[in-house]
Amino acid sequence: MKPVVISISPNTEKDDILLSLRVLLSPWKWFDEKAVSDFENKFASYFGKNYKALAVNSGRSAEFLILKAMDIRKGDFVAIQALTCIAVSNPILWNDALPLYVDVDDSYNMDVGDLEKKLNGDVRCVIVQHSFGVPAKVEEIARVAKKHNISVIEDCAVSMGGKYNGKKLGTFGDISFFSFGRDKVISSVFGGMILTSNQNYYKKLRLLRDNLAEPPKSWVIRQLLHPILFSFIKPSYFLGFRKYSIGKMLLFVSQKLRILDKAVYEKEKRGKKPELFPSKMPGALAVLALHQFNKLDKFNKRRIGFHNSYLKMLEGTNFRCPSGVEGAIWLRVPIHELKSKEIIEFAKRQNILLGDWYNKVVTPALDLEVIGYRKGSCPAAEMYAGCLLNLPTYPLMENSDVENVVSVLKLWESTK
Ligand SMILES: Cc1ncc(COP(=O)(O)O)c(C=O)c1O
Repeated sequence: MKPVVISISPNTEKDDILLSLRVLLSPWKWFDEKAVSDFENKFASYFGKNYKALAVNSGRSAEFLILKAMDIRKGDFVAIQALTCIAVSNPILWNDALPLYVDVDDSYNMDVGDLEKKLNGDVRCVIVQHSFGVPAKVEEIARVAKKHNISVIEDCAVSMGGKYNGKKLGTFGDISFFSFGRDKVISSVFGGMILTSNQNYYKKLRLLRDNLAEPPKSWVIRQLLHPILFSFIKPSYFLGFRKYSIGKMLLFVSQKLRILDKAVYEKEKRGKKPELFPSKMPGALAVLALHQFNKLDKFNKRRIGFHNSYLKMLEGTNFRCPSGVEGAIWLRVPIHELKSKEIIEFAKRQNILLGDWYNKVVTPALDLEVIGYRKGSCPAAEMYAGCLLNLPTYPLMENSDVENVVSVLKLWESTK
């Protein structure tokens, strides 16, 4: 069966690989500020003429700067949802503040009722995540925030191009941020963007961002190598004997030799801040990101089409495919399934890698207490954590891949 790989450089097409190679061979372009401002301008204009954008080297750097601009400091709390990535909790801790975890509803987004219940005088702002590319109830959350006089930050790391009530995600909060990480909506391996229409915030953020350092050259080289090396790793990922494949070995060796970076550094899993965050977005990554940004609508159209196919093909099975959500871009299709781990292993044996967001309440945290999560505080998130299967919808897939994923799910079901 043709491999399906949800998280292995899922947005990289041939032209992206060639572009990485071209940029790699043009070191004078690596820190070209014009490439960054071109990308910022194009990005901002997608949201409307009142918007301004500021690029940084990751979504977590964007969040870190936004919290600084909002003057979040020691003793403050920032409300975020449980079922999230540690890259959302950490920038709060790195600003010496604390996350207040809010439970989720059945769309795996923030539960508005639980937010209202948990808000107290120490909470300064709420970060609204649109999980899996599915819009959260952001207008309702903004109403609650207004009542309590706190700011709203939209986390569009996994939802760029989505809409809520016909309006683009990223335009509901005071400030929003985006990620161009390797398995996000569009990718430049690492990268992030801040978006706002508030002039005061923009001025503060511009100053903060302009004072950042560029990331080291060696880091830029590693990111440019990522699409190139993965063009060898991906086709050989399942080529070999049992667990030992050529692609896995290449990946392991490249990471050990530090030719490739992981998406989350080891110390981040313990709440610690790597030097690298926050940094400017280097021109090299702005070139890759802008190239991918031009494909945004095409990519999301494909994702929505694949979601529709899953919906039809899974009818009559016990897999409950979520539906009826206006404006979702379905970065992945989440399915609540108690035996998700077993199914992921079963599919892997048929060369299909499914996703496991979110296998923990905050993933990939080593110790939830260290990042401020109190066990029992978000029961719905705890129930879903480790029991969600993510079906792939990445743009490089074909309809036949969706058919293969569904047939493996049906095969698993028939053995039960
Ligand atoms: C929901 C969410 N927000 C923010 C981030 C941070 O983005 P980045 O990886 O670009 O720092 C992530 C990253 O994985 C994420 O999943």
